[in-house]
Amino acid sequence: MRDRLEALRRDGLAAVSEAQDLDTLYGVESRLLGRTGALTAELKGLGKLSPEDRPVVGKLANEIKQALQGALEERRTAIESAELAADLVGEGLDPSLPGAPAPKGGVHPVLAIARELEDVFSSMGYVVWDGPEIETEANNFDALNIPADHPAREGHDTIWMKVEEGSPRRCLRTHTSPVQVRALREFGAPLRVIAPGRVFRQEAQDATHDHTFHQMEGLVVDKGVGVPHMLHAMNTLLEGVFGRKLETRLRPGFFPFVEPGFELDARCPFCKEGCKVCKGSTWIELMPGGLVHPNVLTAVGLDPEEYSGFAFGLGLSRIAMLRYGINDIRWMMSGDLRFLEQFQA
Ligand code: DAH
Repeated sequence: MRDRLEALRRDGLAAVSEAQDLDTLYGVESRLLGRTGALTAELKGLGKLSPEDRPVVGKLANEIKQALQGALEERRTAIESAELAADLVGEGLDPSLPGAPAPKGGVHPVLAIARELEDVFSSMGYVVWDGPEIETEANNFDALNIPADHPAREGHDTIWMKVEEGSPRRCLRTHTSPVQVRALREFGAPLRVIAPGRVFRQEAQDATHDHTFHQMEGLVVDKGVGVPHMLHAMNTLLEGVFGRKLETRLRPGFFPFVEPGFELDARCPFCKEGCKVCKGSTWIELMPGGLVHPNVLTAVGLDPEEYSGFAFGLGLSRIAMLRYGINDIRWMMSGDLRFLEQFQA
């Protein structure tokens, strides 16, 4: 057996050093050390030796195994660097060839519009601000003059957090309006701010309702701010989204945190005589807004005799749907690549 082992070592090492490429080397390795390899077979046979011979021959077999493994490893490294060197000097590698294309990401349509509007509004001196998605009942409702018995506060569309008995209630913010309160407390007046972000409602989902969607709040508080200032901001916003001036009109609307409150409509950007989007009327309802209610100013410690302001709430998800012709709001948060890949830059 000793002779056979020595022969294995001699032939094995020779075969290793003769191997010119990785495939051949791999073949040598499995013939020697693989599951059915020659040395493996010898090692299995050790058990049949006498107790005196076993340790001696066993030691020799292990030495040989290690020697072969070492030689294999060394040869592998040598072949690999030779191949690389040959590639570099020969015709194998052309470093001027373009690489394999990396998969390209894109900007989500909602984010794309938010970024454009951030540019437009920061150039007009607005700060971009945000608040937490888990909001206090006080900021989401009370400070916004939404009375305790207002239906919006109850379970049907607010998602409430579990809080410890006796501690203040918290919810997933149902709109970006609480950022009005946070920003005014942070910066005081005068202030111009926009606040794009995610909002949440307990909605039955359909093509125009989702439990998670995006809004963008706008707020200006200063001395002598009125409806014309609000209209100018809204019109500038629409021009930013649709790339041209749209004809707009104001209708009265009610929201507890503004007085007077309005709904802004714009001439349908897609037709002249009525289409599916404007449902034949040539007007589409685009965004609510109004003059900040005195109770909101008081809630943040401002004197409504001294300051006034306007606020508006843009449905970012909806405006993105309009601009890109997206037919179902549920695409927005779907994470579906078939949808998202259409917005690659
Ligand atoms: N927060 C309101 C909502 O989500 C939208 C809104 C209406 C915001 C009027 C405003 C506003 O700032 O003035 O339904």
